[in-house]
Amino acid sequence: YYAVLFYVCRSGGWKEHISMSVLVSGGTGFIGSHTVVELIEAGYDVVVFDNFYNSKLCVLDRIKQITGKSVKFYEADMRDASALRKIFSENKIDSVIHFAGLKAVGESVDKPLAYYKNNIGGTVVLCEEMAAAGVKCMVFSSSATVYGDPETVPMREDFPTSATNPYGETKLVIERILADVCVSDPEWSVSCLRYFNPIGAHKSGLLGEDPMGIPNNIMPRIQKVAAGEWDAITVFGDDYDTPDGTGVRDYIHVTDLAQAHIAALKRVYTVKGWECFNIGCGHGYSVLELIEAYSRASGKEIPKVIMPRRPGDIAISYADPTKAKEVLGWEAKLTLDDMCRDAYNFLVKNPRGYED
Ligand code: WQD
Repeated sequence: YYAVLFYVCRSGGWKEHISMSVLVSGGTGFIGSHTVVELIEAGYDVVVFDNFYNSKLCVLDRIKQITGKSVKFYEADMRDASALRKIFSENKIDSVIHFAGLKAVGESVDKPLAYYKNNIGGTVVLCEEMAAAGVKCMVFSSSATVYGDPETVPMREDFPTSATNPYGETKLVIERILADVCVSDPEWSVSCLRYFNPIGAHKSGLLGEDPMGIPNNIMPRIQKVAAGEWDAITVFGDDYDTPDGTGVRDYIHVTDLAQAHIAALKRVYTVKGWECFNIGCGHGYSVLELIEAYSRASGKEIPKVIMPRRPGDIAISYADPTKAKEVLGWEAKLTLDDMCRDAYNFLVKNPRGYED
């Protein structure tokens, strides 16, 4: 035994024998679970923690059905320092992809303290435990909401940032906290991915968007109509200064978004310091265009009810994704029809969503 150990250590081959792992916070959530699948299929060892605030345990089985692999999982809350310390002590973690956080814009207006305590407080605890474990690579789930209501579109990473709600404020503050950490310790590398509007589902129909409670975002609300649970989709405003009067957004397939995390992970392994990237298709579609695309994909008529504008909504948001293409070598590949097709496929296969 000692002869073998001596040989392995002397040959320097010991490094190949310690599997390096990516820790994914919020890894059973909508975007987190799709990213875990892409990580496994790209050959990474993955450790996941989640508190199941907006996700379900059965997602882990779905990930195994898709990949054939089980991920190491901890039920934990990012605000629990001792739980995080246990994860870092039991696993050789070399980077973190940080999804965990509350994400409902409207809810954040009603419960700002819960959002600040969870999203910001939890991220501080996570960063403290990362630093204590010597883990200084992070890909952070940020949002285009940090641009507020921009003067012009498409949005570039050098645009002014501001928040129009507490949820967006937490994303902006966390970006700034991570930038300060990188200044305080040049060994850190951080990539903030500013998502536009993620929709769709894994092509297998085993993973998809299944928010707890009443959904806020347009696609899960359209799915309620397609499922026959709701009579019609509410269209929040048809009097915006847009081609058909309804809100314009940059919808991106969740699998394309997941792939962007793989590209960013490679970046943080090679370049120190703080960076941010817009992750969108670079094209805006109106609410009516999205509903029409969904009808084409599903064969379902989606009745509409025009309502007043939703407070806090902006008219137009879409990305200039040039930087992600030039620096990360990433660009979206899937179309709006692919997004609608895959979202509907998930609904057909999971008419009542995930069932634990
Ligand atoms: C899209 C468009 C609505 C519902 C938010 C966050 C962002 C990210 C995604 C978390 C808008 C319209 C919606 C409905 C409608 N959040 N709409 N009827 O507001 O662009 O972005 O969610 O990751 O950070 O800001 O997304 O899907 O809520 O709305 O007409 O019933 O659909 O007005 O134009 P949003 P959304």
